[in-house]
Amino acid sequence: MLEHEIDDYKAKTPRSRALFEEALRVMPGGNSRTTTFFDPYPFYISRGSGARIWDADGVERLDFNGNYTSLILGHAHPAVVTAIQETAAHGMSFPGPSELEIRLAEILTQRIPTMEAIRFANSGTEATMHAIRVARAFTGRSKIAKFEGAYHGTHDWVLVSISPDPAQAGSRKRPKSVAWSAGVPPAVLKHVLVLPWNDLAACTAILEKHAADLAALIIDPMLANAGMIPAREGFLEGLREVTARLGILLIFDEVISFRVASGGAQERFGIRPDLTTLGKIIGGGLAVGAFGGRADVMNFYDPRGGRGRINHGGTFNANPLTMAGGVATLEQLSAEAYARLDALGNRLRDGVRRMLKRKKHPGQVTGTGSLFWLHWTKRRLSDFRSARPDDSTVPQQVFMGLVNEGVLMSQRGLGACSLVMTDADVDRFVEALGRVLDRQI
Ligand SMILES: Cc1ncc(COP(=O)(O)O)c(C=O)c1O
Repeated sequence: MLEHEIDDYKAKTPRSRALFEEALRVMPGGNSRTTTFFDPYPFYISRGSGARIWDADGVERLDFNGNYTSLILGHAHPAVVTAIQETAAHGMSFPGPSELEIRLAEILTQRIPTMEAIRFANSGTEATMHAIRVARAFTGRSKIAKFEGAYHGTHDWVLVSISPDPAQAGSRKRPKSVAWSAGVPPAVLKHVLVLPWNDLAACTAILEKHAADLAALIIDPMLANAGMIPAREGFLEGLREVTARLGILLIFDEVISFRVASGGAQERFGIRPDLTTLGKIIGGGLAVGAFGGRADVMNFYDPRGGRGRINHGGTFNANPLTMAGGVATLEQLSAEAYARLDALGNRLRDGVRRMLKRKKHPGQVTGTGSLFWLHWTKRRLSDFRSARPDDSTVPQQVFMGLVNEGVLMSQRGLGACSLVMTDADVDRFVEALGRVLDRQI
């Protein structure tokens, strides 16, 4: 029961509660990240090392959240800490470029061949905003399309149909655009079309109907924030073909999925998008975003001759600390590292499947590489709608139960293994989940 879990949580976290009450005096809801808030209050994190974090009450937890999949090497990896410390000693940010920016750009463009050119920003949100803007500039068209359930950050153009109530979201084949936030102007909804995941015929019909106005289709190739529902065979290929035929730029939002291979999900799935957005792991734990792709598209940012046709400022873009953290992180991500991350993810998913079967529990687990998602429905998973839990309180119960067991993942069901984890850490996750389910049945 959720109440019992919450009582247990409160008993373990008095210092966090006091800090939360202090925070409420100066911040609405007491914090700056809606995504990290949960009732009755989030625990305050005072330290992270390797696969573990400690809260303000000194409670240790295994971290399968990893700052929402950013910390692929775990917390405070010595090589990353050293690189950032040494760079910081020479200055934090400058009113001009530094060599480290070129290094990170070289590493990323080599890993992702479709990124002929790249630029840095400070968040995945900025990356998707810029990719969409340049797609509009390049095509001269104003509409974009995105998938129902997909999350691409917090700017207006993508705050549409992230987790709409199906009662308001129209038919499955022709979803309505639903604002996901107060403050999104109605004009945005007219310019953002929403597509159903894994229904190529329905997607093609929508894209063909609006082709003359459509600048871009933005895809998270793993639907990483809506259940990691695998794309059916031929689905991504089909979208690539349709968008190319209609002159619509295909943007792969790889802010999360980049971590599944050296060249990201596009390498793993064999698709060549026009533009790619990155974030999370490429900053080594510091604030980061990047976007890039076809040189003819990215040329809109070339300032030679006066100014770029698109202005892209940003006081902290490509600051040396973030670049150093990114370079140091990617240097650790060898072929062996990806094989190890895959093995950890496979072990976790297999372990969860076996445990659910043994307990005859109606759950499922999806994911690729080091990423996973826990589902609480028996339905066949095909899109955002099918992945909605049968009982909407279950993900919260599982999340809170795991927190009490000393394990952290995301509230909605997303988790990630980090390279520093051991097989025993993964097994501990499965065992803890088993105990949580036992308490709830
Ligand atoms: C797929 C995807 N795109 C974009 C973003 C936005 O990134 P940021 O939180 O750095 O703005 C996220 C963040 O979770 C994401 O998962």
